[in-house]
Amino acid sequence: MLRRLHHEQPASFAFTPANQAWAEAQITKYPEGRQASAIIPLLWRAQEQEGWLTRPAIEYVAEMLGLAYIRALEVATFYFMFQLQPTGSVAHIQICGTLSCMICGAEDLIAVCKEKISNSPFTLSADGKFTWEEVECLGACTNAPMAQIGKDYYEDLTADGLRKLLDDLAAGKVPTPGPQNGRYAAEPLSGLTALTDHESGRTQYNASVQLASDIGDTVKRIDGTEVPLLTPWLTSGSASAKKPEAPKAEAAAVEEVEPELLKAARAEGADDLKRITGVGPKLEETLNGLGIYHFDQIAKWTAAEIAWVDARLKFKGRIERDDWVAQAATLASET
Ligand code: FES
Repeated sequence: MLRRLHHEQPASFAFTPANQAWAEAQITKYPEGRQASAIIPLLWRAQEQEGWLTRPAIEYVAEMLGLAYIRALEVATFYFMFQLQPTGSVAHIQICGTLSCMICGAEDLIAVCKEKISNSPFTLSADGKFTWEEVECLGACTNAPMAQIGKDYYEDLTADGLRKLLDDLAAGKVPTPGPQNGRYAAEPLSGLTALTDHESGRTQYNASVQLASDIGDTVKRIDGTEVPLLTPWLTSGSASAKKPEAPKAEAAAVEEVEPELLKAARAEGADDLKRITGVGPKLEETLNGLGIYHFDQIAKWTAAEIAWVDARLKFKGRIERDDWVAQAATLASET
């Protein structure tokens, strides 16, 4: 399947303040120089906030992580969980079409989606409230056929049941997730014949459905205010708090020496430093601001000079991780 950015994009993206704090806290989970590992949670949060992953959102996350845009785009286009086109303002309906669900009626559910939402997947309904897609097994095969709607599973579905769910969602209601045929959980359709002890003390719903009902936000967009920001690895619990100091031996490893810096690019113009893997527009701007414009400047860096530049970048370790010096030497020889 060809996965491309949607032809229509919003002008900009920004996390809500709470999501921004959450995203910054996620980044601190990773060791120095490995902050790029936060790419998936950050992209996912951007999608949870907006409903889909826009180009400005991908670029925003790339900038936060000091990544070249293309590297963030590679992740966004690789994983099918990222929606690259607008999704319904109320919900994106994911119908499981794998074996158990297919045998038990997934095709009927897909027919309902075609009838009530749009003839083709990933296409907004006329009122803009819904989109749908067929997905692979969601691990609720015992309760086939099923769909994921927002954050929850709706199981033991029928065509009429799905029609009603869509009507309720369109009317602003939050239908109760879980089995839709009266089953408690994943017990036999004919009821339990053994291990029935829990029956007397059971809650109205099984634990998953109970929690989903208590939260009641099945299709709500995540703006970061839902859960407290837990960052126990930060000293004061806030994302901006400093991490514990690195061991002294590491801090004192290499003495910094200022490399050759220029006041401006030479007459032929600055090199495109973004051609170095790991350098994005933001990092290029930072390097230019330091007085680094050309591949041959970087190609000459010694360990002490790398330490000097590294200390002035937001996330340390990336020069050696991506071997900028070798890359720059190759690029300098080509120009
Ligand atoms: S086959 Fe549909 S959930 Fe597994």
